[in-house]
Amino acid sequence: MAKLTVRDIDVRGKRVFLRVDYNVPLEEKDGQMVITDATRIVETLPTLKLLIEKGGRLILTAHLGRPKGQREPTMSLRPVAAKLADLLARPVAFVDDCIGEKVEKTVSALKDGDVLLLENVRYYSEEEKNNPAFAEKLAKVADVYVNDAFGAAHRAHASTEGVARVVAKRGGKCAAGLLMERELKFLGDELEKPARPFVVILGGARVTDKIKVIDRLLEKADSILIGGAMAYTFRLAQGYKTGKSLAEADKTQTANDALAKAKAKNVQFLLPVDDVVAMPVKTDKLDKKGKPVIEWQNPRTSSDMNCPDDSAGLDVGPATVKAYSDVIAKAKTILWNGPMGLFENKQFAAGTNAVAQAVADATQNNGAKSIIGGGDSVKALNKAKLGDKVSFMSTGGGASLEFLEGAVLPGLAALSEK
Ligand code: 3PG
Ligand code: MG
Repeated sequence: MAKLTVRDIDVRGKRVFLRVDYNVPLEEKDGQMVITDATRIVETLPTLKLLIEKGGRLILTAHLGRPKGQREPTMSLRPVAAKLADLLARPVAFVDDCIGEKVEKTVSALKDGDVLLLENVRYYSEEEKNNPAFAEKLAKVADVYVNDAFGAAHRAHASTEGVARVVAKRGGKCAAGLLMERELKFLGDELEKPARPFVVILGGARVTDKIKVIDRLLEKADSILIGGAMAYTFRLAQGYKTGKSLAEADKTQTANDALAKAKAKNVQFLLPVDDVVAMPVKTDKLDKKGKPVIEWQNPRTSSDMNCPDDSAGLDVGPATVKAYSDVIAKAKTILWNGPMGLFENKQFAAGTNAVAQAVADATQNNGAKSIIGGGDSVKALNKAKLGDKVSFMSTGGGASLEFLEGAVLPGLAALSEK
């Protein structure tokens, strides 16, 4: 990586404005917001510890949820400050704003090695607009800018991009944190010249979300294994009926183009050979959004490529699991993004869990390098308690996908060159 990192810079006595991605899942318990997965906080600790050791005065900025410019109390970062203090075993100051006098006053009292977390930067609508005046206000307390928020690096927002420009213009340094560096190493460098066979597993709901990644990886992969609802767009493209499965009728040409490119490039491109299908029935229960909860009735394995009219495909079947596991077992490099089915529902989690196990086994038994591209696949691995059996799990969702597509991430582009 040609970008400056926290290893390269001197921060003693300096105010280090550090953008982190602390957009963590929270749940209300007895009137309190409780963090249900602290991975994104834990993963920034090496950066924080290094900067503390180097004598920087740390001012952390982050967003939580999408409050759309409103002070939404359930999206306050205050519980994150408490969690961070536990993890660092040192005090973490908190200010209930991210700009203004209160922030400046607290910052002026910071000593070398002190840590301050500012309130949700998205309480201001100017953040997402990357408003230059707002970036100037944030930058008032910044001598040095560090971005360790890989998960938000695909956003050109004031705290991820604008502040860096302001600091750089003043002659200040803008560096990547250690988490950012690690993400780029695995999602970037390691996949540049992968040990072969290089097997890519792609799942999730829509071909639309993954087509750019498929297109790019067709240049590099030896095998691409497809699962999730997006497999049904391929089925549709091949002329089969997909019943009530999620399938994008307007994307069949895209699917056929991918199949043709795979053939031309001699990439093994596998689609499910069987499914778990079930009938959706609306119940009188309502979900959080007020929509009727769907109950899936009569779940069964089917090797008919035509899905019955009254049913939807919700997971890959056992023959597919076997075929995919065999390919994964021979892999030396594995990239996995997207679940094989509706894994949040136990009835349809077997395919995703089996793939998770196969990836973990290839890593542990054959020394394969396994890289999990964030989002739902990470959730699935953690749920299966296999998170520590793979080489790397990204903390990014949309950011990892965009990076794998080959897009320029604005939060990264704004950092100083070495
Ligand atoms: C994420 O959770 O994907 C990142 O924190 C970015 O959040 P966003 O999708 O709301 O911009
Ligand atoms: Mg997102």
